[in-house]
Amino acid sequence: MNTRVLTGITTTGTPHLGNYVGAIRPAVRSTQDQNVDAFFFLADYHALIKCEDPARIARSRLEIAATWLAAGLDPARTHFYRQSDIPEIPELSWMLTCVTGKGLMNRAHAYKAAVDANREKGDEDDDGVTMGLFSYPILMAADILMFNAHKVPVGRDQVQHLEMARDIAARFNHLYGSKEPLFVLPEAVVDDEVATLTGLDGRKMSKSYNNTIPLFEGGAKAIKAAVARIVTDSLEPGQPKDPFASNLLPIYQAFATSAQTQVYIKALQEGLGWGQAKEQLIEVIEAQVAPMREHYETLMARPDDIEDILRSGAKKARAIATPFMEQLRAAVGLGAGQSVVSGKGHKSKRKASKFVQFKDESGRFRFRLLDAQGQTMFVSLPQADPKTAGALIGKIKSAPSEVAVVAHDTDGYQVVLDAQVVAIAEPGLSFGELQARSQAVALALQELGD
Ligand code: TRP
Repeated sequence: MNTRVLTGITTTGTPHLGNYVGAIRPAVRSTQDQNVDAFFFLADYHALIKCEDPARIARSRLEIAATWLAAGLDPARTHFYRQSDIPEIPELSWMLTCVTGKGLMNRAHAYKAAVDANREKGDEDDDGVTMGLFSYPILMAADILMFNAHKVPVGRDQVQHLEMARDIAARFNHLYGSKEPLFVLPEAVVDDEVATLTGLDGRKMSKSYNNTIPLFEGGAKAIKAAVARIVTDSLEPGQPKDPFASNLLPIYQAFATSAQTQVYIKALQEGLGWGQAKEQLIEVIEAQVAPMREHYETLMARPDDIEDILRSGAKKARAIATPFMEQLRAAVGLGAGQSVVSGKGHKSKRKASKFVQFKDESGRFRFRLLDAQGQTMFVSLPQADPKTAGALIGKIKSAPSEVAVVAHDTDGYQVVLDAQVVAIAEPGLSFGELQARSQAVALALQELGD
């Protein structure tokens, strides 16, 4: 099975070059790996925690979506969606809230920082702390666990949240996943190779330092104006400069080939003036940004198209989230029609899934599993005769939890019982379809009538 990589982007603010180099570019590149299934989403529920300005949230969502698309994210090959389009996420967040110790949340860095700041001012510990801020790591755990992500690329500041997600997942598995674990324990991926881009003053490029170079907003003009503000020493043209002490080189390097960078270093050592050095910096940035900017502007002029892309991304994501949520609801005892009374005489009238035997076009004996809605979950391999088929059905019914749905090759799955392959699914399923299907099969087996 492919590795599921998932990350969220909080929709406040406007992307700058630091976001592009540190997060967007490497994430888009990672999707070129055939063995990766990528889930990238706009974390707009998270944005509500820090921003109470509706116009800014809406604007930022568009800008960030357009930025990722312009940077080459292919929505057909990834799951690219808006968090608030997936109602299963807040639902899962509540389930997780109910198994998360308050003490665990007390230890979250963001919350502790807020308390420390209040103490310093002599205010009450929890002054201005909302439950949104306090429970933020639980919502983040829900984002990740909803899709059973294996790897989560994040900045260092988020590593603690991943540890919390693992704790919460393990506790949930322990409480409700005795038959089989419900959640994968996710891992944080912090890429030390990916440089944090320095800003105009040589510190980390960050909105809070007001030292950023905009990526698309304001066009080429805004990049030029920001580069003009990069701090340099006062050496004149012709005087040798120390490239490694300059604030220009790290930014240049992030956009140039290593050969270009060598030439740049040498030119500075030989006295290239700062003005010209800045012009060359603008050139390498523009070489990469200009073509994307055109795409960005086209997208921003058509917000409805962006909405369509996000909506179809949500549909794809929900094909996984909806059946999984049904399984989770059943696991905690919220399953619709779940009966508390077992035993004869109290059978639920609810529709159940069932097996149906049939003869295929070539006259071979097969059976199919239909879910409660009558959808085919799988078609068995041909059996010798109806009796053998019946016996196999009986075996499955007597031990539905022993049936495993396992990935097969890269594009299908097998239904296996006691090392016997019962069915092979159609090849050519996308990862999302495969995962949704295997969860649906498991659910149908749980819901078998007699
Ligand atoms: N909290 C993350 C940040 O501020 C954004 C985020 C929300 C996220 N949900 C996530 C990141 C899930 C990774 C996985 O950067």
